[in-house]
Amino acid sequence: MKVLVVGGGGREHAIVHALSKSNKVTEIYAAPGNAGIAKLAVCVNIKDTDVENIVAFAKDEGIDLVVVGPEASLSVGVVDELTKAGIKAFGPTKDAAQIESSKNFAKELMAKYNIPTAAYETFTDYDKALEYVKAHSFPTVIKYDGLAAGKGVVIPQNLEEADLALKDMLIDDKFGSPKVVIEEYLEGPEFSFMCLVDNENVYPLEMAQDHKRAYDGDKGPNTGGMGAYSPLPFITNEDYLYALNNIMIPTAKAMVKEGHPFKGVLYGGLMKTKNGIKVIEFNSRFGDPETEVVLPRLTSDIYDAFLAIVDGKTPLLTWDDCYTIGVVLASNGYPGSYKKGAVILGADSDDIYHMGTKIDDNGNLVTNGGRVLFCVGKGKTLEEANKNALKIVNEIKCDNLFHRTDIGAKAHKKF
Ligand code: AMP
Ligand code: GLY
Repeated sequence: MKVLVVGGGGREHAIVHALSKSNKVTEIYAAPGNAGIAKLAVCVNIKDTDVENIVAFAKDEGIDLVVVGPEASLSVGVVDELTKAGIKAFGPTKDAAQIESSKNFAKELMAKYNIPTAAYETFTDYDKALEYVKAHSFPTVIKYDGLAAGKGVVIPQNLEEADLALKDMLIDDKFGSPKVVIEEYLEGPEFSFMCLVDNENVYPLEMAQDHKRAYDGDKGPNTGGMGAYSPLPFITNEDYLYALNNIMIPTAKAMVKEGHPFKGVLYGGLMKTKNGIKVIEFNSRFGDPETEVVLPRLTSDIYDAFLAIVDGKTPLLTWDDCYTIGVVLASNGYPGSYKKGAVILGADSDDIYHMGTKIDDNGNLVTNGGRVLFCVGKGKTLEEANKNALKIVNEIKCDNLFHRTDIGAKAHKKF
């Protein structure tokens, strides 16, 4: 079978790696892929949002299945167009992807179906939003309604910060159309629960936890994620069943009932608060970097699982009961501005996923993004997995990369 993976980050590298282990898959293509993916797949120079050329390529090459990674591709309707062209595609339609692309859509759905989440109000008017903020306590949470590349959430500690965020989002239209959700600030450990979803049917994947802050001790600015591990010792079986039965299954059913049937990966960004598990956000795709620590634990055939979801059949999912820890190597300056093109040596392990790399004109592997490499360690314990991850990190030589050293450090804390 010929498979095309849309995207070019660490998540797509992990998907390609998992697909490469399937004995049904003979050829893998990636659009656009990256320097790491190029070791396992043929990279084609098509942007991940270039729907027309993705469809044309899939048709011309006789692709049997397309797997879509990024939210940007889903939100421009790549799955809709592939399906129209008679090509099987794994991922939600543009309409169903609204559960990620509109915070207001997700909040309204949760309110209507009693899915536990932070209390909220939606505003388009700056004065009304400011009035609401003044009447509530700090910190508060202000979320831009649409996709904002991870930059649309602000947690103001005081009125001044809140005012600035509201001006940015509602008056200066920093991200596009002016609409915000203001919600109650929740506290507790966050975790990621990804499930394969086929309409009302929900098939859970193993859980993972991302580390969003840039520096050790959860200090510094929010990032796309600086490391992750799986599974999660602080999630009890009771927590798991609650999250599955009170959040993920009701959400999949609600999407069908509301006329937005979902197929693909539904990602619950959840928080274990003192008042129970609550939804922070939904994503309509595999998480990045969670995918890079979850898929290496999958022992069943991922091609079969993707195809089962597309065809409305039951996927078989089996797991290695090891731990995985992944550490991101990011460009100095990330998530702010950073330079590209620093030469990377020693990134030879098969347990490295490339997030932002390329081969330059001299044939060197160089940095080409904020998050650059993701090093995965496996072990019987988290400590062993961590040691193995750091061993890979330490083999890499590059003068413009930094990483966190405390991924998974709080895993055994009781909450
Ligand atoms: P989101 O894009 O909605 O996942 O928000 C980004 C980050 O902001 C989350 O990962 C949380 O760390 C934080 N956050 C979002 N909503 C809340 C909330 N209601 N209470 C506390 N923190 C939040
Ligand atoms: N790791 C968070 C995300 O994929 O949105």
